[in-house]
Order: sequence, then structure tokens, then C-alpha cells
Amino acid sequence: MSRPDLPGHVAIVLDGNGRWAEKRRLSRTLGHQAGLRALRRTAEHGARLGIRTLTVFAFSSENWNRPAREVTRLMELFMSALDKEVKGMHEHGVRVRFIGDPAAFQPELQERMRAAEQLTAGNDRTQLNVAANYGGRWDILQAARQLAGQAQRGELDPADLDEAMFSRHLALGDTPDPDLFIRTGGEQRISNFLLWQSAYTEFYFSPLLWPDFNAAELDRAIASYGQRERRFGLTGAQARDRARA
Ligand code: FPP
Repeated sequence: MSRPDLPGHVAIVLDGNGRWAEKRRLSRTLGHQAGLRALRRTAEHGARLGIRTLTVFAFSSENWNRPAREVTRLMELFMSALDKEVKGMHEHGVRVRFIGDPAAFQPELQERMRAAEQLTAGNDRTQLNVAANYGGRWDILQAARQLAGQAQRGELDPADLDEAMFSRHLALGDTPDPDLFIRTGGEQRISNFLLWQSAYTEFYFSPLLWPDFNAAELDRAIASYGQRERRFGLTGAQARDRARA
């Protein structure tokens, strides 16, 4: 049953791993490891609540510019996470998908990403989209490139291009847009996450650093979402009529 106060699709910018570690005089790598544990807890709690889709920003196109050592450690963490976590997720009915440009990752990592997608492709309890080497502008550009190619080959009349068709060429083309966008770590910005898809998404900014994020804070974000009136550009009265219909 779909509940209007429960977001079907939650997108999260996992921010604050580095600061969490620095506050404890630990290496940033340990912060990312704690971030992975927080992701596991959040995904489990989200699935228990009935959230259908969770999309998390694990590595942005801009994160390559971090110190080489941190990037290497993050790649090692992704690799071991793929080895250790995916089987458990599969047993819990989670479908794992990666969005972003995989080409920059090492071949073994790309192979594990593909294997995780293939193993879990038939699951439908909940979907976990992991954005890796992803950027919202990259996503819009790659969709534009695909469509421009179709037009060039005479397969598409540009006059027929509309928002629905464009959306289908984005990385999450077959998934409804996020209802709720959570960013942890106290910053209040999108940082090039799901730019097109967040046009009417509700935002929740959490002061918690990502490794401290927990079930109670997800509950608070969802309670806040439940208080919002989503109008999609309509008047309040129109939006309420539409929600009742
Ligand atoms: C942002 O914190 C976090 C990242 C760039 C990495 C997020 C990755 C994980 C939580 C691991 C997830 C693993 C998988 C396989 C999905 P930050 O380093 O920018 O924190 P700061 O703003 O405090 O420096």
C-alpha cells in the first residue's frame, strides 16, 4: 500500500565522514568505513519502513580531485564493500544498481559492480542505487548526447522531444523522481547530485555527520516530509484535490 506520508524514493548525500573522523583524530578512511556502516543501518531501516528506492551519493565526479591516498582508500573500501555486502543485500531482496560513468574505475571494480547488478537484478523488495562517479550535469549531458545522436540518425524529430522522453534517458530513467532528498553534515546544497530529478523533491538537511546518521534521524526526516504540502506548482487547494483524487 502506498502511504502519502512515506516517501517512495529517498536520495541521500552522505556528507561528513571526514569531519567525523577528524573530530576523533582518526584517519578519514576510518570515517568512510563508519559511513559504510551508517549506510547499511539506514538501508535496513528504510527497507523495514517500506521505502522502495534509496539513492545514495557515494562518489561524485568531483571526488577524484581529493588527495590520491584518500581516493585509493575509497576505491579499496568500495571493492571490499562489494565483496562483503552484496550477498547479504541479495538475501534481503535488495536490487543494487550503480549510476554514473563507470569507465574511470579500475576494471576489477567495474566487473564487481556489474556482477552485483546481475546477481540482484531480479529482486524487487527495495532498490539501492549507488551513485559512483556521478554528477547531475554529467547525467543531463549524457542524456542530451544520446538524444542528439538519435536526431542525427533521423530516429528522432527534435520537435517531439519532451520532458518525459528526456527523463527516460537519464541514469534513473525508469525510476520515479526522489520524493525526499536528505543531506547530512550540516551543509545546505545539492552538490551536483540529481539536478533534473530533484525539481520537485522535498529537502531535509540534517546536522548529523553521516556516520552518526541513524534510524531515529531517518524517522525525523520522514516525519518532516509527512508535514509538507507538495504542490508541484499548483495552488494548495488544487494540490489537495489532486491528492484526494
Ligand atoms: C562524504 O564525506 C563521503 C564520501 C565522499 C564517500 C561516501 C562513501 C561511503 C559512505 C562508503 C559507501 C560505500 C559504498 C560501497 C556505497 P566527506 O569525506 O566529504 O566528509 P567531510 O565533508 O566531513 O570531509
